Amino acid sequence: MATRKLRLGVLASGGGTNLQSIIDNCQEQKIDAEIVLVLCNNPDARALERAEKADLPHLCINHRDFSDRQSFDQAVVAALREADVELVVLAGFMRIISEVFLEAFPQRIINIHPALLPAFPGLHVQRKALEYGARFSGCTVHLVDNGIDTGPIILQAVVPIFADDDEASLSARILEQEHIIYSQAIQLFAEDRIQIVGRQVKISGAKATDETLVNPTF
Ligand code: GRF
Repeated sequence: MATRKLRLGVLASGGGTNLQSIIDNCQEQKIDAEIVLVLCNNPDARALERAEKADLPHLCINHRDFSDRQSFDQAVVAALREADVELVVLAGFMRIISEVFLEAFPQRIINIHPALLPAFPGLHVQRKALEYGARFSGCTVHLVDNGIDTGPIILQAVVPIFADDDEASLSARILEQEHIIYSQAIQLFAEDRIQIVGRQVKISGAKATDETLVNPTF
């Protein structure tokens, strides 16, 4: 019997490497999910080409065509509903989500952020982690709430920061982990293993790692 697949709507604004990793994992049946809509707010987003190439339904809703955030979000919600989306996956989607959107998909919108939240929310966070002198950074998959990168944390991956790192090298190291944990988080939803209790995300059958990391070594 074919496994029921979780219906994903992936929203992207740019390059779409996270989108690509989800496309690949769906195609290779590594996750029990299917992308039923790729939606971009930017007509030049490379993500649209990736969707086209993978023969996935895709759509550009340009935020510049709307006078305010709510009406843009209403159009986005309508498209996601039309496609029967069950989980909204923000993959480099550079728009702030309004209440209209949040209320349409309660606890069903997830985001990936290239830092270890709650450290370094917002933009250009790889550079900020370097400038701060942090010894570790990483990425966070979290639920989206009405703050900027403040929603309950689902999964995190940690990477070391090296003395000779620059923004590009650190971003690449983090991105590699993003591509792994974003699909892992989607699979947790597909398996219905996620329960949200206040700020805490309970994952059935999961146990914490017992690994402790120290950086640098000397
Ligand atoms: C990623 O670093 C993601 O964490 C952030 O935006 C970037 C998107 O990259 N939210 P891509 O478009 O998936 O390549």
